[in-house]
Amino acid sequence: MGSLVIAMNAKEIVDSLRNLHDLSKAINSSLRIEEVMEMICSKTARLMKADKVLLLVLDEKKSTLTIHNKLGFIDDDIPVKQFHNIQSFDHCLVHKGTVITMDEVLAEDQYQSLLSIMPFLFDMFFAPLEIQGEAYGLLGVNGEPHEFSHVELEIFCSLGSQAAIAMENANLYQKLHKTFLHTAEALAEAISSRDPYTGGHTQRVSQYVMKLATTLELPEDQIESLRLAAILHDIGKIGIDDAILRKSGTLTEEELQKMKAHPDIGAKILGIVDEMQDVIPGVQHHHEWFDGSGYPSGLRGENIPLIARIIAIADAFDALTTDRPYRKALDNKAAFELLKDDAGKHFDPYLVSIFKSKL
Ligand SMILES: [Fe+2]
Repeated sequence: MGSLVIAMNAKEIVDSLRNLHDLSKAINSSLRIEEVMEMICSKTARLMKADKVLLLVLDEKKSTLTIHNKLGFIDDDIPVKQFHNIQSFDHCLVHKGTVITMDEVLAEDQYQSLLSIMPFLFDMFFAPLEIQGEAYGLLGVNGEPHEFSHVELEIFCSLGSQAAIAMENANLYQKLHKTFLHTAEALAEAISSRDPYTGGHTQRVSQYVMKLATTLELPEDQIESLRLAAILHDIGKIGIDDAILRKSGTLTEEELQKMKAHPDIGAKILGIVDEMQDVIPGVQHHHEWFDGSGYPSGLRGENIPLIARIIAIADAFDALTTDRPYRKALDNKAAFELLKDDAGKHFDPYLVSIFKSKL
């Protein structure tokens, strides 16, 4: 009988290790912080056979814990999301497999008030989220620690470390991505600043575009391509002479043809970057018109890539609402009326109609 129990425990431990390995692979496969946190909660519930999971993150001063993710709770269960004056739980980081309960980290007065409104907190135990000896938060499940073996608790704490590393990776990736976007914006702005009338154009077009993208509920990867295409849509103007770009009078036919080359030049520049393939259609086709009379390809209707149709509206709206050599800036209402007049001719009429609601 005794050996049977040991054999079963060994099998459970092997299963737990397998789950831990799967979890580690899964959470490191995503770099979106919200997705990583959700995955941590669902996998923890499975690994620990728990029906309630909480993920709490420490602030930089390590004095406030905030509930970031929950599983097995409804919003009404959690009237308080932040706990202040947190006691250090560094001792848990020193001794591997040491779990912690909420009454050990809460200040006395908070403990008393939470006991009556969130009693479940005190029926949970927590693994520290740890990276190289530093605490980032807590990962908790419902249950009693003594119902688990020491090995299982060690595995649970390893899960805390894996979770912390995955969250840190996602945070670093987001910071890196933000830096990349800012660099792309600075580059685009430097190019558009050669044209004296387009200061801040890149940022404003990006803002309009993101408003439309949110309303359309586009998938995350398309939103990213759209954001970049909006920033880089006029990057091809780097290949246009100043004499044409800065000319205040009407362009000659020859100058106009050269100017009309900028979408193709932009597409060619981005074409050498593998990661930009989904961005190129927005750059190359942002001057196509809905009725097929635009350039460079004369695409018509929905044959024009969606991201290009969105940028066309944002680009035109910004041009109308900023001062130009030949006219003063229009207000939003007048600019929108002009967009509406051109809906179906220059612009996708459906996108124009939803653009108004976002102004
Ligand atoms: Fe353009």
